[in-house]
Amino acid sequence: MVYDNSRDDENMQVFDIIKYKSLLLHKFNEKFNIIQLLTAHMDFQVIYFTKTGHTKKVAEAIASELNVKAEDVKDAKLNDEGLVFLGSGKYGPQPGKTIMEFIENNNFKSRNVALFGTSGGGKGLEVQEMEKALNAKGACIKGKFFCRGKFMFFNRGRPNDEDLNEAKKFAKQMIK
Ligand SMILES: Cc1cc2nc3c(=O)[nH]c(=O)nc-3n(C[C@H](O)[C@H](O)[C@H](O)COP(=O)(O)O)c2cc1C
Repeated sequence: MVYDNSRDDENMQVFDIIKYKSLLLHKFNEKFNIIQLLTAHMDFQVIYFTKTGHTKKVAEAIASELNVKAEDVKDAKLNDEGLVFLGSGKYGPQPGKTIMEFIENNNFKSRNVALFGTSGGGKGLEVQEMEKALNAKGACIKGKFFCRGKFMFFNRGRPNDEDLNEAKKFAKQMIK
């Protein structure tokens, strides 16, 4: 049997082309940072309601992962598209009134939303309440995050660095 080595040559050529193309892509990325360009093109927004600043801290941690500025719901205008993060503290059994009004007054049909909250206790009721309202508006909830916030004598120092790191991890997961 004669061994046909022309096949090997063909395979080597294909292999070389793939290697060459990925090298080119690597060089191109080095020069223009396409990964950053791609994520910069994606539209992210982080909007929060806060009374005592805890949810703002979480919002800023999330926003720092997305290279955007966290926006107080009082001054925020919902972008036309992209993933929006909405967050609030818990006051009684509810999120802040202003964030609920924001949900009510904006178009969330088929909109991707990630939710976050801080509370003195419980299992994220503030997030669940926002989720209910958003589901009724036809939004698509991509994920949820909540952590403790200091309340009277409870949860001193929360949200702490660990909470904020978890919030950042959540943000990363949401944009994967
Ligand atoms: C007026 C007020 C009412 C609150 N009521 C509750 C409550 O009923 N249950 C609870 O778990 N936490 C309650 N908390 C604690 C907050 O949920 C917690 O401190 C949260 O982190 C506040 O978020 P913020 O600092 O962004 O406003 C209350 C806090 C305030 C200021």
